[in-house]
Amino acid sequence: MAVRRLHPDQPAQFAFTPENLAWANATMANYPPGKQASAVIPVLWRAQEQIGGWITEPAIRVVADLLGMAHIRVLEIATFYTMFQLAPIGSKAHIQVCGTTPCMLRGARDLVKVCKNRIASDPFHVSPDGAFSWEEVECLGSCANAPMVQIGADTYEDLTPQGFEALLDGFAKGSPPAPGSQIGRTASCPEGGPTTLTDPSLFDGSRVGKWQKRLSAAPGGAAPATPAAPVAPSTPPAPAAPAASASPAQAQPFVHPAALAAMANAGLVKELEDRSTSGKPMSAGELASLAQLARVKGPTAYGARPDATDGPKE
Ligand code: FES
Repeated sequence: MAVRRLHPDQPAQFAFTPENLAWANATMANYPPGKQASAVIPVLWRAQEQIGGWITEPAIRVVADLLGMAHIRVLEIATFYTMFQLAPIGSKAHIQVCGTTPCMLRGARDLVKVCKNRIASDPFHVSPDGAFSWEEVECLGSCANAPMVQIGADTYEDLTPQGFEALLDGFAKGSPPAPGSQIGRTASCPEGGPTTLTDPSLFDGSRVGKWQKRLSAAPGGAAPATPAAPVAPSTPPAPAAPAASASPAQAQPFVHPAALAAMANAGLVKELEDRSTSGKPMSAGELASLAQLARVKGPTAYGARPDATDGPKE
């Protein structure tokens, strides 16, 4: 990451065009009185677009005055965010090469080599024909499709040195390719297209069977176990009723974990606590019916106040 300083050659002044000034005032009006500084990023961006792709020192002062901010505050923002350029850029494209770990591991160094050979040996220098400039930046948020570059507001992903050269050719001719993955994948789907849940062996158990055969075929391997039949979802097994002669400490009701979870979700913990302090255990029938009621009808079945986030009511 390069040190970001204002360019040594600065114009004498800056003024928004009437159209851009009106846009800036409208943008500032989106915020409450006294909070106009919240518009600093879009207003700075508009100034950069008007200047031709970079921010000048007079523009920083104008933006700060417009927003009622100290000049140094806007200078801090302009020099912090790499979306703001501090020196003139190429007329056709300014290339921001991501050099953070995923992109670096996937070939960002080779993309930088292309920039050095084709544009300029150092970042922030414009190519001899004035068309291109480049810099290395930190992660641009497309790590799954590394390596990538950003040009303007678009990202170009899954690049190879050859693909990157073709991309630059497209910008040079004024017909750049569509942004996004340059190998045709949709968003960050796996290369070659989606596989998840399209292969029946992922969920039909056949992969498990193959592993069992391999294990049993290995020297000393155990015979494959017969897979247990799936347990059908059912109501929890009815707990045994406590003995009539049991003391309160011994008479704690058995609560099936599923029933306890259902009742806790339904706000019934308090009822359980009351029962435990009073020493009066729940009968097996009560527990089963409460658990069933909790699963089927939810909290409102007990008069609990429905939460605003509850789903549709029955
Ligand atoms: S590391 Fe390059 S986009 Fe995140």
